[in-house]
Amino acid sequence: EKGGYDYFMLKEIAEQPKAVADTLLGRIDAAGSLTLDEVRIPDSVLREVDKVVIVACGTAFHAGLIAKYAIEHWTRMPCEVELASEFRYRDPILDPRTLVIAISQSGETMDTLMALRHAREQGSKVLAICNTNGSTIPRESDAVLYTHAGPEVAVASTKAFLTQLVACYLVALYLGQVRGTKWGDEIGAVIHELSEIAGAVEQVLDTMEPVRELARSLADKNTVLFLGRHVGYPVALEGALKLKELAYMHAEGFAAGELKHGPIALIERDVPVVVIVPSPRGRSVLHDKIVSNIQEIRARGARTIVIAEEGDEAVVPYADHLIRIPATPTLLQPLVATVPLQVFACELATARGNEVDQPRNLAKSVTVE
Ligand code: M6R
Repeated sequence: EKGGYDYFMLKEIAEQPKAVADTLLGRIDAAGSLTLDEVRIPDSVLREVDKVVIVACGTAFHAGLIAKYAIEHWTRMPCEVELASEFRYRDPILDPRTLVIAISQSGETMDTLMALRHAREQGSKVLAICNTNGSTIPRESDAVLYTHAGPEVAVASTKAFLTQLVACYLVALYLGQVRGTKWGDEIGAVIHELSEIAGAVEQVLDTMEPVRELARSLADKNTVLFLGRHVGYPVALEGALKLKELAYMHAEGFAAGELKHGPIALIERDVPVVVIVPSPRGRSVLHDKIVSNIQEIRARGARTIVIAEEGDEAVVPYADHLIRIPATPTLLQPLVATVPLQVFACELATARGNEVDQPRNLAKSVTVE
């Protein structure tokens, strides 16, 4: 049942190219436009929406944080992302023109379910992004866009996360398409890039041996820090969450721009710091800023583990370890940048003798509040 792998997690990591491709299947037509007829919210309603609110927990919340960048960029609508467990306790402002997106692999997470019930009571439309057919969250939502990751058994979410990202991009691009934003040309180009992204994920998987080796060499560390900017920031949070739940190590993700506001005090000799570097193409200002962040932490003794696009030479002098990922449009980079972090956490857990598929104290679906 583990298909020759030692753990379900390894199998599920390896299945990601297929999971991504399956989630796109049938949703892009021959003309390169999106067809999301299965989302039963009429286009006329989607045109009237004036705000998007995303609710989710854990890894699904990180997918939501990334979706915010995509939705705001491609639709020019404000988008809030909130931990489902916090959402209804703060009396959120919701009305029939708010589109609420609830993201959940299992479809049974109680916090997310309670958040969407609250939203529907306020008259908002709820779209579920879910991996489990017929589960409670899609049943209680106005519409559902299923991710097609297949069953995810390991407690640590991997392939579900990548497919949640794909589903979020589809929703963001679809909203852009029906609402007709000024990014029309870009939307077409990104849909094309998305249709080819499974190959890029495969390429990353094929080059993971040095990451495994690196993970094993860090097995006796106490802490690992993760830094990112823009969509790389939620990727940093996800990398840290994976490490906490699997390796039981202290791990934290930071927005690189926050370093000087406090976290840089944590940097001391030999602390491993993983940095997710945005593409030097496109928004190059982000890239330049993160290169100086890497210089800053390295000058203070950090051991820098740099995840950067192929061909990005600017990072080379400051990287103690360099992990290459294929070039992608900035907003899609999390689909490739997260994969090494999953492999890293899985290998560290193994090296520390931990139970990879069933980490201590955790359950696959959290059906209590
Ligand atoms: O089933 P859900 O997507 O609603 O689950 C949400 C979180 O409990 C889940 O993502 C959790 O954080 C994972 N164990 C992370 O790997």
